[in-house]
Amino acid sequence: MSKISITTLNKMKQQGEKFTCLTAYDASFALLQERAGIEVILVGDSLGMVIKGQSSTLPVSMEDMVYHTANVSRVCRQALIMADLPFAADVTKEKALTHSARLMAQGGAHMVKIEGGSSRLETIRFLAERGIPVCSHLGLLPQSVFKYGGYKVQGRSAEAAAQILQDAAALEQAGADILLLECVPAALAAQVTRQAHVPVIGIGAGSDCDAQVLVSYDMLGITPGKIPSFAKNFLAESGSVEKAFELYVSQVKQGLFPGVDHKFD
Ligand code: KIV
Repeated sequence: MSKISITTLNKMKQQGEKFTCLTAYDASFALLQERAGIEVILVGDSLGMVIKGQSSTLPVSMEDMVYHTANVSRVCRQALIMADLPFAADVTKEKALTHSARLMAQGGAHMVKIEGGSSRLETIRFLAERGIPVCSHLGLLPQSVFKYGGYKVQGRSAEAAAQILQDAAALEQAGADILLLECVPAALAAQVTRQAHVPVIGIGAGSDCDAQVLVSYDMLGITPGKIPSFAKNFLAESGSVEKAFELYVSQVKQGLFPGVDHKFD
């Protein structure tokens, strides 16, 4: 696999070739994922739950994010590395720039991911104008779990779906390089993907997105606590961590994952 850039991912979208993303927080998993052909490695703030045993992503700090991003970037040679801006790190656009620059300069990330729709437009534009590649995370925003009162599917009403479509277009216009949709009905995700000129990564968003992402501990079935219903256990089917990553790549690329059991209507 040659070095993956935003240009590579845009070309894959144009050619209708699906790409893959998984979370990693350390060198060993990142290397296995890269060898399996994963194009994008996400150092997600899900590390709060799966690495630190916290009950949500909210307590994850910038220090945590820089430490884990650096562990991943130190060994990766091909994958594009995306890192989450943790909760409230984008409270102002200036803070978002300082923290994004730190994730890139000290952590070695190639792109940052920011949760939120229209409220983040100004920040996304500010970062894009300063050369920071950004992925905008829409749909279920885990950093807003206390506002929702739980992890719930988003975009089910006509009004909520229209808002997501409008936010996706506006974020792309503001300079977002990638969109990520979490826990939305598959038909809505398909509509966003058709409308978008940038790649759309889905999680719990059906098979019509340009790419898929899962929390690696969920798809290995080892996350402490409840594993989301949209995450298939690839370890159970394949027998080893290496083969689980390979099976995931192969099933996403063939359009076999997510299937009917791993999506929302
Ligand atoms: O932190 C994370 O792992 C994420 C995924 C759920 C997309 O943001």
